[in-house]
Amino acid sequence: MNQLGFLPFVCISVQVVKHLEPFRLSLEKLKEVSTRLRKDMIRGLGKHTHHRAAVKMLPTFVRATPDGTEKGDFLALDLGGTNFRVLHVRVMEEEQKMVKMDSQLCAIPQEIMLGTGEQLFDHIAACLSEFLDSQNLKGQTLPMGFTFSFPCEQKEIDKSILIRWTKGFNCSGVEGEDVVKLLKEAIHRRGDYDISSVAMVNDTVGTMMSCGYRDQTCEIGMIIGTGTNACYMEEMKNVKRVEGEDGQMCINTEWGGFGDDGSLEDILTEFDKVVDRTSINPGVHTFEKMISGMYLGEIVRLVLMKLTEKKLLFKGEVSEALRTKETFETKFISMIEEPDSGLENAKKILTELGLTWDLVDARVVRLVCETISSRSARLCAAALATIVDRIRANRGLPHLKTTVGVDGTVYKKHPKMQLSMHFLAPDCKIKFLVSEDGSGKGAAMVTAVAHSLSKHPHCMMVPPLCFIVRND
Ligand code: BGC
Repeated sequence: MNQLGFLPFVCISVQVVKHLEPFRLSLEKLKEVSTRLRKDMIRGLGKHTHHRAAVKMLPTFVRATPDGTEKGDFLALDLGGTNFRVLHVRVMEEEQKMVKMDSQLCAIPQEIMLGTGEQLFDHIAACLSEFLDSQNLKGQTLPMGFTFSFPCEQKEIDKSILIRWTKGFNCSGVEGEDVVKLLKEAIHRRGDYDISSVAMVNDTVGTMMSCGYRDQTCEIGMIIGTGTNACYMEEMKNVKRVEGEDGQMCINTEWGGFGDDGSLEDILTEFDKVVDRTSINPGVHTFEKMISGMYLGEIVRLVLMKLTEKKLLFKGEVSEALRTKETFETKFISMIEEPDSGLENAKKILTELGLTWDLVDARVVRLVCETISSRSARLCAAALATIVDRIRANRGLPHLKTTVGVDGTVYKKHPKMQLSMHFLAPDCKIKFLVSEDGSGKGAAMVTAVAHSLSKHPHCMMVPPLCFIVRND
């Protein structure tokens, strides 16, 4: 620092703040965003408007949250990020708990994430085979839940058509295909074991269901991790694309696609546009790209580049690392924001990125990180407020008290979205329940609920599981 003490920071920050202004969303703007999402959700649910809707509002065929009486042994598969997991889960009614008996993790290398669908499913089938061998489970047919965390048009609980890849996956020959069929074909190609039914689950649904086992008022599941999304229990009479008027069905909103029709143009910054243009799926999942872990670090990097070019940082000197795409990891944001060690972490990270910094630089970087993560939190809060308020209005209640099951590292590191909820959904009291392994255990729970529902007398059997309840 020079003789002027902190004055240079004040001077620079005025200009820096000007550059960060487009990321600051007022409460009014957030309410507007929420109103737009509400309209898009209605469009997504409609029979004739669905195909053009940016927010897909996908029926999941999950018609009930857990009632605490579920039990049994299940296999859970989980694919949604850079790893594939298989778990053996035991649901114990007496103690109302789910126990992970064992599990196995298989990395999905980049070349498989971008290879053919056949390679991906062969890899998954091989991992599953190894696990069944290690557990001596070949020959047994445990009911299986598959958490597949991508947007799928579910035809039935065990028929799920991938609409599009997200989060860095782009395997050929899978979009438009039934994921269960591709998995079964891969298993048949091996010929060393077989599976019976597979209940397909989005990770938001898994999160809602696993939290729902602990707290039966949980009727929303939300993920803010590598990607972002939410599901909730909708009244059947509003789910126009599925037969039946009674009861409820869980809807996978796929809110990550919000804005894909240009409806968020006014809040997109020049940096968001670069992130989208340089992604492997330009033009899709606009909302997700402003919020989730796959993109936040890159937004920060682009802002830092811009500020450096404007000579507001690092004396105008950009390092080779900072110039390189995706070198500023999303985890750096929370490290730099830490209340006690944040500034020290910033200094270490900037040094590792080959930058020459001073204290003012470190503070500016911290301000950039706070701004980007706050925008993410506020946008999520606006979207969640829309859902919560919709549930309240659906039930004609003046006030709603409800629980949201949450998962994802971005949420866990930045729980500040809770603060905005009070202003955005003033008529709702919301409890956040952080899920413990919702993707894994949730798949088991969906399968368990599916099995107990299939014993219900009013269920029409959709072999092997029951999901469509009819009045006649
Ligand atoms: C996918 C969703 C998923 C979310 C969180 C998004 O990219 O489209 O299906 O729930 O990521 O994993």
